Amino acid sequence: MSRSGPSGRRKLIVAIDGPSGAGKSSVTKALAERLGYIHIDTGAMFRTVALLVSRQGIDPQDDAALTRLCSQLIIEFDSSDGSSRVLANGEDVTSAIRSPEISLLTSKIAAMPSVRSHLLLQQQMLGARGGVVLEGRDIGTVVFPAAEAKFYLTASAEERGRRRYEELKAKGEHVSLEQTVAEVQMRDQQDFTREIAPLRRADDAVEIDSTGLTLETVISGMESLVRTRENR
Ligand code: DC
Repeated sequence: MSRSGPSGRRKLIVAIDGPSGAGKSSVTKALAERLGYIHIDTGAMFRTVALLVSRQGIDPQDDAALTRLCSQLIIEFDSSDGSSRVLANGEDVTSAIRSPEISLLTSKIAAMPSVRSHLLLQQQMLGARGGVVLEGRDIGTVVFPAAEAKFYLTASAEERGRRRYEELKAKGEHVSLEQTVAEVQMRDQQDFTREIAPLRRADDAVEIDSTGLTLETVISGMESLVRTRENR
């Protein structure tokens, strides 16, 4: 896979996988900015499907209904105003897809074959030209197994739950720390044990445990590895 940018450097596909709350979103966003790459949040795509499932009262186990929903859904990422917005058939759903209820429902619909195969194709089209950082659970194993740089970002469940709790609290959500840690553990269970594309580290991914590390340490380590590979 060789795609060159104006600088002559290769434009790579960078995969960042790992469990929820490991810091993937902040890391991916910052890394993409530094590299001048596009950031693709594949979790937001699954969340968008879950939001519509919830709104339309669709049974999350009904594969035929999910197929119909997906075939009528266009998901777009818009960063024209500097912030990163998620659009579902033109509607801005950026905030609506982040509630705890949608997080839990997302984990359920992400196990459904219809949803996974539909989003897999969309993700492959979005990333095919390179110059992208994709964050998710199966990017390095299923979506882009030949990605030139792969990372598996993790942290302890307690640390991840605590970070999620702080985020939700800052947004004014009324949640308890125990409940948030329990939800992280429940989603881990669903993500690690589902039949299709379960969360697992690709054999050739660099594993980074972010427990106790600063964001800057993690991002600069990743950036230097990507830069080295761009020049290969
Ligand atoms: O990264 P996130 O928390 O926004 O992801 C939401 C859910 O979507 C999570 O339960 C895992 C699932 N997901 C997935 O199965 N595959 C991906 N590539 C991305 C997310």
